[in-house]
Amino acid sequence: MSTFDGICVTDCERCPALVDSRTQIVNGVGPEDADILFIGEGPGANEDAQGEPFVGRSGTVLTDALIDAGVLRDEVRITNCVRCRPPENRDPQTEELSNCREYLDGEIQTVDPELIVTLGKVPSQHVLGRSVAVTKEAGSFVDVRIGEQTYPLLISVHPAATLYDRSQRKTFTETITKAVEIAQSTTSEQTGNGQSRLGEF
Ligand code: URA
Repeated sequence: MSTFDGICVTDCERCPALVDSRTQIVNGVGPEDADILFIGEGPGANEDAQGEPFVGRSGTVLTDALIDAGVLRDEVRITNCVRCRPPENRDPQTEELSNCREYLDGEIQTVDPELIVTLGKVPSQHVLGRSVAVTKEAGSFVDVRIGEQTYPLLISVHPAATLYDRSQRKTFTETITKAVEIAQSTTSEQTGNGQSRLGEF
């Protein structure tokens, strides 16, 4: 049984291993009409305990980069590919990712963001449905089709990468700054036919 209202899951038992390892389901946070939607991999221990994505060390890196770029964490939407903590922080398995895909796609369509930012390899590959060399492709824009809509997507390294590899810090902060600039400019500079100007960047 599962209950999903288009943005939040309140009941789900699709993944037996995750049902066993989770304390709670961790839904996305932030405005339901946010301009930017960040997508991470899945909850870790802190997220599982607090019921909110990106509240541990990775969350601090993301929150700080957003502030440096001129927006507050509360102004963006942040979610994950899977909403339950995998055991021992392992990567979510293919079946778990696919079990949770309906919720992710539903959230994307409800929020209908100007820009999607995938944080790290797992979410980039999952959302794009192809293999991604994330360090090489970080900072690149690609289009992704979700339902009837095509969204611009910006590939980013995971914020945790900046904690174990200092050289990733610049790549990460530059990507987040780019995301904020683009989302702000597409919101304020819609053309007469409603098309965004993302193609100019
Ligand atoms: N890493 C993720 O990918 N998601 C979180 O929510 C926290 C850490």
